[in-house]
Amino acid sequence: MKIAIFGLGYVGCTAAGCITHQGHTVVGFDVSEAKVAQVNTGRSPVREPGLDELIAKAQSEGRLSAACQIGDALDDCDIAIVCVGTPSGIDGAHDMSYIVQVTRDIANAVKTDRTRPLTVAYRSTMRPGSTDQIIRPIFRAKLGERTDALVELVYNPEFLREASAIQDYFNPPKIVLGTLDGTPNANMERLHEAIDAPVFHVGMREAEITKFVDNTWHATKVAFANEIGRVCQNLDISARQVHEIFVADTKLNISPYYTRPGGPFGGSCLPKDVRALQHIAADIGANTHLVDSLIRTNEAHKHHQFVQASEGLEPGARILLVGLAFKKDTDDLRESPAVDLARKFLDAGFEVDIFDPALKPEQLVGQNLGYTFAFLPAIETLLVDQTTAEAGGYSRIIATNRLADTLELGDTPIMDVSSIN
Ligand SMILES: NC(=O)c1ccc[n+]([C@@H]2O[C@H](COP(=O)([O-])OP(=O)(O)OC[C@H]3O[C@@H](n4cnc5c(N)ncnc54)[C@H](O)[C@@H]3O)[C@@H](O)[C@H]2O)c1
Repeated sequence: MKIAIFGLGYVGCTAAGCITHQGHTVVGFDVSEAKVAQVNTGRSPVREPGLDELIAKAQSEGRLSAACQIGDALDDCDIAIVCVGTPSGIDGAHDMSYIVQVTRDIANAVKTDRTRPLTVAYRSTMRPGSTDQIIRPIFRAKLGERTDALVELVYNPEFLREASAIQDYFNPPKIVLGTLDGTPNANMERLHEAIDAPVFHVGMREAEITKFVDNTWHATKVAFANEIGRVCQNLDISARQVHEIFVADTKLNISPYYTRPGGPFGGSCLPKDVRALQHIAADIGANTHLVDSLIRTNEAHKHHQFVQASEGLEPGARILLVGLAFKKDTDDLRESPAVDLARKFLDAGFEVDIFDPALKPEQLVGQNLGYTFAFLPAIETLLVDQTTAEAGGYSRIIATNRLADTLELGDTPIMDVSSIN
């Protein structure tokens, strides 16, 4: 294929080197004359191990050139890949001016008599909605009704890390391809055919948010690791050994467990021990801001869940809460998020029935008893048996766990608050 690359920085140059290495022809564009001149003399404008060799080879074989002006270059191109910068603006949002400018440049250069569409794939990191709200309107303003026949928009985030960028390009953790309708794009399939990685064909916004999720997660991991490291250091504990133990647990720690958006954390251990670690850290001056925020973010999520679960209902409506314990098949109510949810419904004036066959209020003892009666003093009058639960008459059924699967609940709408889709 013939591929145009816009922006000859770290991402664009790596793409140029690797794509030419795959046998395609690349023409690169940059507003910097110096970068363009370097590429045209077979040198990489950015320092990246192995890239000089790839660029020199492709340039000497006539499969890589660069320019500042597009001219007619897009006429025989299959794909245009956009890799311009999206630095922080003064308000913290991405500065989208380079994206806007390059999109205008491409839209102006696309000829309306093209016989096959140009795939325009964005690799720059930009906020979800950018394609719909900024990029598509620019193309439509220029190309009008024929936009979709002339241009196929794709969002294809880049997962390379500088200093191992070439290795990462050919061995990415995943390939994410966002399109307007979520279906595969033939040119992008061809571009990735030699690369072995899980492929996700998704809508634009899911693809656009991917890098935000990944980079924020990486930042969270580093901040968490260092907070634990500070606590260990202050307590004369070997942070190295603690880390070794932590990562050896690939069942619960380094695993997909506890990463699915859904219910808040709760139960007898997590909130208690997080609070105790906050106390230890405060006591030794470790300033664990991330750990300190966990209980507050969890409370915010409980309220979010209540707002969602009560949306569209008037106070006084009858609701059935299925599952009160912090998970199915236990009667442990200590810090169960479902207890908070029930309390919020009652406080807001709803009529609440609760179905949870594992619970026998008369058998609750100790802290379990104290917690439950502090938050739900009328628990005995709220609990209903299976026959009542299945008899219906509720405006909404709210499932906090998989317990609802065991009931015949008829046509009443069920809201599953245990997962966010
Ligand atoms: N650097 C990384 O490791 C990495 C990894 C994944 C994603 N990203 C994202 O990719 C994007 C590019 O990152 P980078 O590090 O390569 O940036 P960079 O600043 O190194 O390169 C951007 C290039 O775009 C050029 N440019 C600006 N406006 C232009 C225009 N109108 N036409 C042509 N060229 C233009 C600039 O001159 C510059 O050479 C950013 O959105 C970044 O967040 C970067």
